[in-house]
Amino acid sequence: MGALEGKIALVTGGARGIGRGIALALARAGADVALADVDRIPGGAQQYGEESVSGFARAKETAVEIESLGRRSLAIAADVTDKAAVASMIAETDAALGGLDILVCNAGVVSVAPVETLDEATWDLTLGVNVKGVFLACQAAIPLLRERRGSIINIASIAGKNGVPGMAHYCASKFAVVGFTNALARELAGAGVRANAICPGILRTQMWDYLSDQVKAPGESVEQAWERTVKSMIPLGRPQTPDDIGALAVYLAAAPNVTGQAINVDGGIELH
Ligand SMILES: NC(=O)c1ccc[n+]([C@@H]2O[C@H](COP(=O)([O-])OP(=O)(O)OC[C@H]3O[C@@H](n4cnc5c(N)ncnc54)[C@H](O)[C@@H]3O)[C@@H](O)[C@H]2O)c1
Repeated sequence: MGALEGKIALVTGGARGIGRGIALALARAGADVALADVDRIPGGAQQYGEESVSGFARAKETAVEIESLGRRSLAIAADVTDKAAVASMIAETDAALGGLDILVCNAGVVSVAPVETLDEATWDLTLGVNVKGVFLACQAAIPLLRERRGSIINIASIAGKNGVPGMAHYCASKFAVVGFTNALARELAGAGVRANAICPGILRTQMWDYLSDQVKAPGESVEQAWERTVKSMIPLGRPQTPDDIGALAVYLAAAPNVTGQAINVDGGIELH
C-alpha cells in the first residue's frame, strides 16, 4: 500500500515540468490528484515569451496519465492570480474528489532582466504568479486542509536562498515563498496542518530552456550553455529531475512531524 493511499492532492501548474512530476509521484504513492493550469498568461513577460502556454490542454493529458495509474484525477482551468478562479479550483477539487489533504503550489514564471531595466509589468507578473498565487491558493485551501489535518507544499527555488544577478524579481518572489511558508507553518501548527517548501535546483524544463538561451555566451548554443551550467554549478554533477522533486513531495506529504522547512533538492548547490 502506498504512503498516500486514500489521500487527495491538488497541484497548481501541474500540466508539465516539475508540477507534472510531482503529480505523478503523488499518484504512484496512492493519491488522487487534481491539476490546475492555464492556457493563457497575461503578457509575454515570462519564459514563454507569449501569452499562449497551452497549460490546461496539457493538464488534461497529464490527468489521463494519472488515471492510467488507477487513480482519480481532473484537470481544472485556473489562473492562480485570480482569486475567484482559485476559489472555484478548490471547490471543484472538493466536489470531484471529496476533500483535500495535500496542496502543492507549483505554478511559477521566470524571466531575466537587470533591476535597472526591469519593467513594472514583469515585476507584477512574477510576484503575482509566484507569490500572490501561492497566498491565494493556500488561503482558499486552509478550511479543507484543517478538516483532514492536511499539508501544504510550496515550490520555491534555490533562488529563494541566494541572490542571482539578473533575477532579482524572481529571487524576491522565491524568498517570499520561503518566508510565507515558514510563517504559515507556525500559524497552522495548532490545527495539525503542516506547510513546507521545496527548493529545486536546476531542471531541464521549459523554464531552463529559456534560461539557457538567456545565459548563453557568444557563439554558444543553448545545449552548450545548459551543459556548462550543469558542470559549473552542480557539485553532484547532474541536473535534477521532476522525479527527484516528486520524491521529496511524497515524503513531505506523509511526514507527520516535519513543518516549516525549505528543503533544497539541488545536488549540493546551496548548503543552507
Ligand atoms: N526548472 C527549474 O530549474 C526550477 C528550479 C527551481 C524552481 N522552479 C520552480 O518550479 C515550478 C515549476 O517550474 P517548471 O520548471 O516546471 O516550469 P514550466 O514552465 O515547465 O511549468 C510551469 C507551469 O506553471 C503553469 N503556470 C504559469 N503561470 C500560471 C498561472 N498564473 N496559473 C496557473 N498555472 C500557471 C504553466 O502553464 C506551466 O504548466 C515554478 O514555480 C518554478 O519557479 C523551477
